[in-house]
Amino acid sequence: DHGYGPDIDHVLLSEEQIQAKIGELAAQIADDYAGKEVLLVGVLKGAVLFMSDFARALQLPTQMEFMAVSSYGSATSSSGVVRILMDLNRDIADTHVLVLEDIIDSGLTLSWLLKNLGGRAPASLEVCALLRKPGAVKVDVPVKYIGFDIPNEFVVGYGLDYAERYRDLPYIATLKPEVYQ
Ligand code: PRP
Ligand code: MN
Ligand code: MG
Repeated sequence: DHGYGPDIDHVLLSEEQIQAKIGELAAQIADDYAGKEVLLVGVLKGAVLFMSDFARALQLPTQMEFMAVSSYGSATSSSGVVRILMDLNRDIADTHVLVLEDIIDSGLTLSWLLKNLGGRAPASLEVCALLRKPGAVKVDVPVKYIGFDIPNEFVVGYGLDYAERYRDLPYIATLKPEVYQ
């Protein structure tokens, strides 16, 4: 547990559950994009572990780009203000773009991102998110591929952080309340 054991309240999704779901998502997406090349756009930093495992599971030729945006800072809930920290390094016109996100909480980050990327004339633009908190969706964003719908709890691990920690856990867990104090 990388020494984080004492901070963990309970494991919500195990490493095995996550990897099995990635296999299912990859199989479905390989079917849907058969014969096409896909550009995976990972949203830094949260999506970095998901991107890495998903790209290996997906039996299609893919390219990878990253964008860095931030809506949370070090808080545990979305501020609603999306900042672009790093843009793509290439043009995506006429490209099949699949955005990879670790979690959709309020939906504000994705809503902003889809508008932004949609304006660059991609051949297609879809989203694959590992986690979604349905109760917290304030903005209606079209997300074609979802791994897990989870309850409205603050979770960390597998790319998700609290104040930049816990991203390196291979599973997704909640933290003990005292960790926030
Ligand atoms: C988190 C998470 C998503 C976003 C979801 O990123 O990784 O990108 O917030 O929240 P929303 O649906 O309410 O917009 P964060 O801004 O914390 O940056 P990070 O990925 O670098 O941790
Ligand atoms: Mn993020
Ligand atoms: Mg974060």
